[in-house]
Amino acid sequence: MDFTFSEEQLMIQQAARDFAQQELLPDVIERDDAQRFPAEQVKKMAELGFMGMMVDPKYGGSGLDTMSYVLVMEELSKIDASASVIVSVNNSLVCWGLETFGTEAQKEKYLTRLASGEILGAFCLSEPEAGSDATSQKTTAIDHGDHYILNGTKNWITNGNSADVYLVIAQTDAHKAHKGINALIVEKGMTGFEIGPKENKLGIRSSDTHSLIFNDVKVPKENRIAEDGFGFKFAMKTLAGGRIGIAAQALGIAAGAYELARKYSLVRKAFGTEISNHQAIAFKLADMHTQIEAARHLVYKAAWEKDQGMNYDISGAMAKLYASQVAMDTTVEAVQIHGGNGFVKDYHVERMMRDAKITQIYEGTSEIQKIVISRSILK
Ligand code: CAA
Repeated sequence: MDFTFSEEQLMIQQAARDFAQQELLPDVIERDDAQRFPAEQVKKMAELGFMGMMVDPKYGGSGLDTMSYVLVMEELSKIDASASVIVSVNNSLVCWGLETFGTEAQKEKYLTRLASGEILGAFCLSEPEAGSDATSQKTTAIDHGDHYILNGTKNWITNGNSADVYLVIAQTDAHKAHKGINALIVEKGMTGFEIGPKENKLGIRSSDTHSLIFNDVKVPKENRIAEDGFGFKFAMKTLAGGRIGIAAQALGIAAGAYELARKYSLVRKAFGTEISNHQAIAFKLADMHTQIEAARHLVYKAAWEKDQGMNYDISGAMAKLYASQVAMDTTVEAVQIHGGNGFVKDYHVERMMRDAKITQIYEGTSEIQKIVISRSILK
């Protein structure tokens, strides 16, 4: 493993850092408060090539590697995890899934516009009664010859209202259990497709999360991704890469909160000296720094394995499991170091603590990551 970055990777990392400082930071508190989607910022990230980073340029993407993507996710998440989850879902779940498993016609019709950021995508697996237990899909896609009829409800869908294209996982043949599941491309505006209410969330409040309702939606068969019955494997394989993106997001949240706490400790005085001179604070910072470095190594290793064409199911799960715990622990300590100031919005760390929590839940809870890891080491 070699984590020496190329000139190109360093340039992209710097571009993301500059963008986050100049375009995300100024209104991040207000957007969180108002639950306002960062539409202008998403447009600018598209111009920077952040919406289809790993997609082949012939389909409108930037043609970069997973490591570059992870560096961008880390930098954006240091400032605004709501913006970074929009990037993550579009890149890892939607664009990657379509490029890897879609037909040529699907790539031309959808991927080119998704990767360039002209339109936005959403990935729709979770349901009111099928979150972690993803094989228990209740949404149905019944085969009607040249089309499917889609019925059901999806929950907690990132980009729920802002997306134009939705990859929907649904059960076609219940007798075949997970082998009877399909992944369909659904467009906003298809008759019978309604966007449900917006969720009022603890964190990542400026990303829009909605339920989706499908009432007899006619989806042409050419919108099915890969062969009949591949939908569950499509979801699992796509999520395996998605978890690297979320791990990078967790890493960024932790690194951002740590840096704020470190700087604060150097200026805030108590008992006649800067609080960094008190061992109680200095040791907290030492622990935070060490854990962030450990998380970073796991995240970069998972990205490296993906770029090497190796299996990354386990390294991605471990990276997400650990980095999300570090994000939670670090942000809690960052609030503690800020004391009373940490509890008010102006200092950012309370938002980061709220944002960190979702990294232990979406794209597979920590408990799901432990299932994936333990099954692999015990088989
Ligand atoms: N790659 C390929 N195939 C895989 C796979 C992988 N990574 N993981 C599982 N499969 C296959 C299995 O091989 C099996 O196929 P066969 O029968 O042909 O062998 C099939 O899938 C079923 O696997 P399991 O028997 O292991 O299924 P299970 O019911 O025990 O569940 C699970 C497995 C790992 C727990 C899975 O249900 C899971 O990952 N759950 C979590 C779902 C999740 O992450 N949801 C997140 C929602 S999306 C989101 O959050 C996006 C957002 O908006 C931010």
